[in-house]
Formats: sequence, structure tokens, C-alpha cells
Amino acid sequence: MRKKIIYFDNAATSGIKPPSVIKAICDCLKKNNANPGRSGHILSVKAAEIIYNCREKIGELFKFDNTENIILTKNATESLNIVINGLLNKGDEVITTSMEHNSVLRPLTYLKKKKNIKIKMVRADLNGFINPADILTSITDKTKLIVITAASNVTGTKMDIEKVREIAHSNGVKILVDAAQGAGTIKINLKESPFDFLAITGHKHLFGPQGTGALIIKDSEEIEPLMFGGTGSQSEKIIHPDFLPDKFESGTLNTPGFAGLSAGIDFIIKKGIDNVINYERQLIKYLTEKLMEIHEIKVYAPFVNRVATLSFNINGAQPSDIADYLDKKHSICVRSGLHCAPEAHRTINTFPYGTVRFSLSYFNTQKEIDISINALKSFIMKNKN
Ligand SMILES: Cc1ncc(COP(=O)(O)O)c(C=O)c1O
Repeated sequence: MRKKIIYFDNAATSGIKPPSVIKAICDCLKKNNANPGRSGHILSVKAAEIIYNCREKIGELFKFDNTENIILTKNATESLNIVINGLLNKGDEVITTSMEHNSVLRPLTYLKKKKNIKIKMVRADLNGFINPADILTSITDKTKLIVITAASNVTGTKMDIEKVREIAHSNGVKILVDAAQGAGTIKINLKESPFDFLAITGHKHLFGPQGTGALIIKDSEEIEPLMFGGTGSQSEKIIHPDFLPDKFESGTLNTPGFAGLSAGIDFIIKKGIDNVINYERQLIKYLTEKLMEIHEIKVYAPFVNRVATLSFNINGAQPSDIADYLDKKHSICVRSGLHCAPEAHRTINTFPYGTVRFSLSYFNTQKEIDISINALKSFIMKNKN
């Protein structure tokens, strides 16, 4: 019989959702299953309210009042692509970092071929930290955009996005923050730190379901939409609307998903984001200390400025074998390999095999960490024999 599952793969998607999230999705499908903003009947109006509420909840968490500028998307990848594809033109320069996910690196690489944009990649140090001064020295008069992750999905290291924003804005450059790993794990206050673009995903640390995300835009004028189509507005015209959020929201939205995302964000707001972050911080500190006590284990990045994600390796073992052992023998779900961030692994010298990644959530416990540490010790013993 399989043991009770321990889920430590929350950077991929949060495994345990608050019951209120599941209820909100089910209620929407049972009671409000209509197309939002399309028809005038009561169910369609209620579905539109669900969508509106989700924009409000996102605005509340990130202290952003202008709800029309909160574009609902299907994930962070779509949000990032809207800005990258819609803003950059032939000859533009973009600065990014070696800690980015492929959802940044691939659209940029595509545009390098397609539109001849120039990519400047600032390399992080061995612990995965970016020095903002390196970004400053990469800026030229052709630099249009800086794209930077709020936190690495490999090492969990937090970037100094506020410092990078100051550098960007004092040089007339726009900044796109990939907050796929930062939303719900880092306090982001857009009133105090007005990033031009914040890309978030709903299904990771905001506890929403998969298929939900958002892009918060300060000003959309220069950006071309990624898609065109029906919006429920200006139906008499065959030209796509130019106003927000419709400009970037073609086709039917994921209403049940956004009902769930609202409930997920509400869960964080009710618990208090500080409490959620502090709890996760204690857990990751405990995990880091326990791993560092085992001398066969190398943990990448120290316990400073880190979200609740870490990478490690065991001397002489393949990351995939460790993850497989944890899963098959102990029902512990973790991720191994390159985590869609090859340059991050080149940076910390773990390319091409990668690392084992533990990513925690508010629903994990110290006891689960103890069980995992014992499982890792038994793997090391087995590996020696
Ligand atoms: C740093 C980072 N950016 C972007 C993404 C893409 O998120 P999604 O798959 O929800 O689009 C991920 C997913 O793991 C990520 O970790």
C-alpha cells in the first residue's frame, strides 16, 4: 500500500488547495455556468460578477486600484508573452537574467530570430542572485525592456526587483516582473513599487486552479495584442477593441477557474500574507538546516532572501534517481531536472542533470520535512551499499 502522499512540488503547482477554492469552483459550475459579459440574463451577469470580483481580489492583494488594467490570462506564460511579443520591435534591446524560466527565454529567443531584437543576459552569481549594478551597466539608449523574475524557481532566491525598478525607471526603461514564483510568497505593493508589468500565475502560490493567471499593466498603449476575437463588447465592429481589459482578453474566460482564484487569494488575505510568508519561511529554514547537516548533500543557495523553494544534490547520485526513489518508496512528490530554466542551471553549475527541488507551501508541516530527511538518509545508505 502506498504511504500518505507528501507534496513538495508547489513551485510547479500548489498541490493542496484551500477547501474554499474547491467550493467556489464547484458552486460556479453548479450555479453560475454562463458566459461572462456576453448575454444579458441573470446567469451571465453573475458570471461577469465572478470575473469582476477576481480582478478586485488581485487588485487588493497587489494594492492596485485600476481594475481594468488587470488582464485575466490562462497562466504566467501568456501574461509574459503578451508583453514580450506586443512591446518589442526590430532593433530593440532587452535585458534579462540567467535565472529566467523558459517562458521568458523562449519568446525572447523567438523574437531575436523573427525581429532581430538584441538580448542581453545578466548572469547571476553561484547562489543565483542578480547584482542590480550589472543590469545598470547593460542599459543603452536602445534598451526598451528589462525582464526579471521576482524569485528563481530553481534556487528560490529572491531578486532585488525594487532596486531594478528604480534603475529601469531612472533610465526610461520599462520593467516586466515575472511573479510566477513571487505572487503569494513575496509582498508586492504596486502603489509603492509601480512596475510597468507584473505577470502572475494563479495555480501556484495563489492557490487557484490551473488555467488562471493575470497581467497587471500600468499603461498598455504601446502593446499589440497577442490574440484578437470576441470580447462581448463593440460587437458591431470587426476591429478589435482598444480599451482594457478587452484589448487583451479575446474569447471566453475561465470563469470557474477565476472563481477559484478569487477564493485562493481571499484565503491568503484572510490568513494575512505576512503570516503565510513567515510560516513558509520557518519551514524552509528548518528544511535547509536539516539538509545541511547531511554531509553528502549540497544545497544550492544559502538561507537568505529565499522563498520556500530550494535545490540540492546528493554526491554521486542522479537527481532523477533521488526524485524517483522519494516518489516510489516514500510517496514524496518533488521535481528533479532542469525545471524549465536551463540558464539557471548553467549559472549554478548543475547543467545538464539539474537538481532535486523541494518547494513548500502553507499546507506543509515540519513533520513532513522530518519524514523526507529520513527518506533521503535511507537513499544515501542504499546508494553506498
Ligand atoms: C519563474 C517562472 N516563470 C514562469 C512560469 C510559467 O508559469 P505557468 O506555467 O503558470 O505559465 C513558471 C512556472 O513554473 C516559473 O517558475
